[in-house]
Parts: sequence; structure tokens; C-alpha cells
Amino acid sequence: MMNTLLLSPDEENLLLAANALKDGQLVGIPTETVYGLGADALNENAVRAIFAAKGRPADNPLIVHVADIDAAMPLCEIDQRSRRVMEAFCPGPITLLMPKKPCVPSVVNAGLSSVAIRIPSHPVAQKLLRLSGVPVAAPSANTSGKPSPTTAQHVYDDLQGKLACIVDGGACQVGLESTVVDMTSPIPTVLRPGGVTPDMLLTVLDEIQVADSVLRPLKEGEQALSPGMRYKHYAPGGQLTLVRGDTEKVQQLISRLYNEAQAQGHSVRVFAFEEHLSAYPGMETASIGRLSEPETIARQLFAVLRQADADGVEVLFSEVLPPEGIGLAVMNRLSRAAAFRVIDANQEELP
Ligand code: TXA
Ligand code: MG
Repeated sequence: MMNTLLLSPDEENLLLAANALKDGQLVGIPTETVYGLGADALNENAVRAIFAAKGRPADNPLIVHVADIDAAMPLCEIDQRSRRVMEAFCPGPITLLMPKKPCVPSVVNAGLSSVAIRIPSHPVAQKLLRLSGVPVAAPSANTSGKPSPTTAQHVYDDLQGKLACIVDGGACQVGLESTVVDMTSPIPTVLRPGGVTPDMLLTVLDEIQVADSVLRPLKEGEQALSPGMRYKHYAPGGQLTLVRGDTEKVQQLISRLYNEAQAQGHSVRVFAFEEHLSAYPGMETASIGRLSEPETIARQLFAVLRQADADGVEVLFSEVLPPEGIGLAVMNRLSRAAAFRVIDANQEELP
């Protein structure tokens, strides 16, 4: 085990972290979405070390991070359409799949023909990419099976001893992983929803489609469009159930199910919108953010899930939001965390 340094982002530490990257070591990097576990994308051994540290299967490809469009040009073929998307939304919470050029080693993209490219906007990520001068391959910096990390402490909790250092850039602003768009398909396709929404993409593209497995499980034998969609997603230690329907009916049903689970001796928690916390008097609740500002839900969701695990909560119920705007990304992550267990309160008989 190495001694993992937790670094504040001052000039001296940024140089140290940039040199570690140049040197083939692993570095925890803050981005506006989630923290990444970065290494020099052109150094095969360094990239292999990422897979080993995370316990990630070698056939699940990594995203390559660069500071700007110019730095992406040696790595992939950027057509007119992709360039429009990049000019509109990069730097920002979006990743584009584009045809790979030969200089990117195939261990990075699991031997596929496309490579995932992202230009993060976080100022610390930008500085590290410029100081190191190398493209940085980075998956989310969690152990496989945990939610993506949104603070430096989350990275430390999961991976200490397995990376050289973590640069602390504060809590991530977006809080959910980037939008992944396949730009190699005839109609650009959102494989993973994130901070750049389909409506935003339509401002620069004629058409866009959203992979329909975004809000449902893959069917038996169905081919995953992205290897990441195939792997078991994060699930909390406790059993999470989503409850949808009219607000009042949802609150009545959650209250009833809470009391039943508690009567059976379980520790129970309700994930509720800030505006609804008072609807659950005497119950243990966690605010997942403001329904009126869904960005706050995206920002907090992973930390709230981690906290429930840390507290050993056994049974969880959550309110849901419309899958619109950033809500699509929130519901994509929440549905998977609940293993697609959803109850419709409008159809339940209430006593
Ligand atoms: O916001 C983010 O995207 C964060 C930060 C660190 O940039 N990174 C991240 O990486 O979430 P990761 O590895 O946890 O998720 C990347 C997803 C995976 O589902 C992977 O399968 C998919 O992107 N992916 C990467 N390259 C691909 C490719 N060439 N074809 C299809 N899917 C790809
Ligand atoms: Mg991940």
C-alpha cells in the first residue's frame, strides 16, 4: 500500500500532481461532475493500473480527458457535427464517442473503434491537464460497487493506498457523471444522461435519440450500447424502493410502508424533497434536494446514498421527480440504485 496524499489545490501541489501523472502514477482529480481516477492515457501500464485499483473489468472502456478541442485532435476524428457539439458544450459535463486514432492504446477503450473524449470545466482539472501536458484516462474514482465520488473524502474512503494523491477541488457542482453521447451512430445517441440534456443538444443537432434502456433494465439477451450499461450498477446496502404518483398519495403510501418496515424491526429512511420533509413527521428522513431546483438533487444524490450506507439503513423509500431536464439523469441513477423497484401510489389501495 502506498501513502495517498490528500492535496489542497495550490500551485506547488498542482505541479506535484501533474508530475505524478507524467510519471505514470494514479491521481484523484476533481471535475465538475464527479471525481476521476486519472492516469496518462498514452501510458499502457498506467492505464492498466487504473483497472486494477478500481477492480474494473478490462472490457469497460475509459474516458480520455483533455483541456480543449486542440488537445483532442490527435486522439480522435472530429467531424462537423461533433465539432458543433464540442464548441457549444465543452468544457462541460459531456463526453463524446468519436472514431479513435491509432495513438490511443486499445487498453483505454477496450479495443472498440470509438474513444470517449471529455473536456472538463473544473478549474483544477483544467490546470492539471495543462500542467501535465498528457491526455488523462479517468473513470469515476469509486471502488466498483460504490456511488461515484463527489468529494475528495469519498475518493479517499474508497481508494486510499491505491493512488499517489488526490487533489481536493471541493464538492462537485453537477454531482452526476457526464452525459455520454455516441457521435458515431447515424443519429447521435445519448447512452448516459447527464448535465447536458437532450434538449440542450437539440440546439446544435438536427436530431438526437436517447437509448431507451436509460430508464429501464436491459432485457434478457439485449446488446448493451455501452459496456458500462451491462455491469451491475451501484445498489445501496439497504433495499431502496421508489414511489411515484400524486404527491399526497405518495406521502401517505411512504408513511404506511415506513411504519410497516419499522414494525418489522428494520432501520428505515425516507429520501424526500426539501419541500416535503415536513410531510413525514417522526420519521427518519434525508433531503435529496429541492424539487423546484432539480440541479440540487443531482448535486447531493450520491452523497445521500453513501450516507445511508454508512449509517447501515436497511429499508429506503424515495420520492421521484419527472424525468425531464437534469431529472432524466437523476432518475436514471435512482432507478438503477433501486434495481428498478417502483411502486405507483395512485394504484395502491390505502386503508
Ligand atoms: O463525468 C464523468 O464522465 C466521469 C468524470 C471522471 O469524467 N467519468 C466517468 O467515467 O463517469 P466512467 O468510466 O465511470 O464511465 C464512463 C462510461 C462507462 O459506462 C463506459 O462503458 C462508457 O462511458 N464508455 C467509455 N468509452 C466508451 C466507448 N468507446 N464506447 C461505449 N461506451 C464507452
Ligand atoms: Mg463509473
